[in-house]
Amino acid sequence: MSGRLAGKRALVTGAAQGIGAAISRAFVREGAQVLMTDIDSDAVNKAAAEIRAEVGEGAVFTARLDVTDEQQWIAAIGVARGKLGGLSILVNNAGIVLVGGVEELSLADWQRGMSVNCDSVFLGCKHAMPLLRESQPASIVNLSSIAGLIAAHNFANYNASKAAVWLLSKSIALDCARKGFDIRCNSVHPTFIRTPILNDLILSSKDEESVMAKLKRQVPLGRLGEASEVADAVIYLASDESRFVTASELKIDGGISAM
Ligand code: NAI
Repeated sequence: MSGRLAGKRALVTGAAQGIGAAISRAFVREGAQVLMTDIDSDAVNKAAAEIRAEVGEGAVFTARLDVTDEQQWIAAIGVARGKLGGLSILVNNAGIVLVGGVEELSLADWQRGMSVNCDSVFLGCKHAMPLLRESQPASIVNLSSIAGLIAAHNFANYNASKAAVWLLSKSIALDCARKGFDIRCNSVHPTFIRTPILNDLILSSKDEESVMAKLKRQVPLGRLGEASEVADAVIYLASDESRFVTASELKIDGGISAM
């Protein structure tokens, strides 16, 4: 198998749609074997079938994984060992957006957002680490957001949880380096990307067209990003091309954070 990820074995969370599905497809095209996981089994099986139809059998496997559940993480890592024979790439992609300031959010909302967006990264890295150690050089890529670096008035939970992913990624990177492991850990920070997560935000407003125009106006490149453009950046961080890159944050934001 040729490609920039030839011989690599990857687990991607939240892979049923949007950015996770795009990353999985791009990884397979670049020669990796991928375990696509999601809380929604039917949807992840459907996404995997589409990739298989494109690239053939053998490279794609699926497992149900609710990233907030430690036992399910342990089971999914077991599936990676059984089906892929190891793990050299972990992509912590699953995430949710909860809109609201501290007065609007309940404690239960807050805890759910922290759990899906942040506990998930802790659990994933913790339980994947033994397998990643066996497959060095290895790479962890965590989906933070530009909202992990820049705050907004109605993103209390999303800002906090994604900021936590940003520094957690650096801490993991330094820990691996100090222990002498060739396991890199980086975060990526997209701005508005055209996926169902964004639909939820837009559809919750009364005027879809003006919301889209407002989002585009905020981006210096004048448009929203595509899931495939995030996947392109993640291929680089997952591959050995970035072998001297760790504890870094890669912004995929059309220039928005420069203003
Ligand atoms: P999406 O909503 O299209 O897909 C998220 C996937 O995660 C879904 O398949 C969903 O079933 C899954 N998921 C949700 N809760 C889960 C759980 N507890 N366990 C396992 N899977 C679960 O979202 P999108 O846009 O693809 O986002 C992917 C990541 O990128 C998220 O972490 C998001 O915060 C981040 N991001 C997205 C941006 C955007 O504008 N689309 C911008 C910046 C960051």
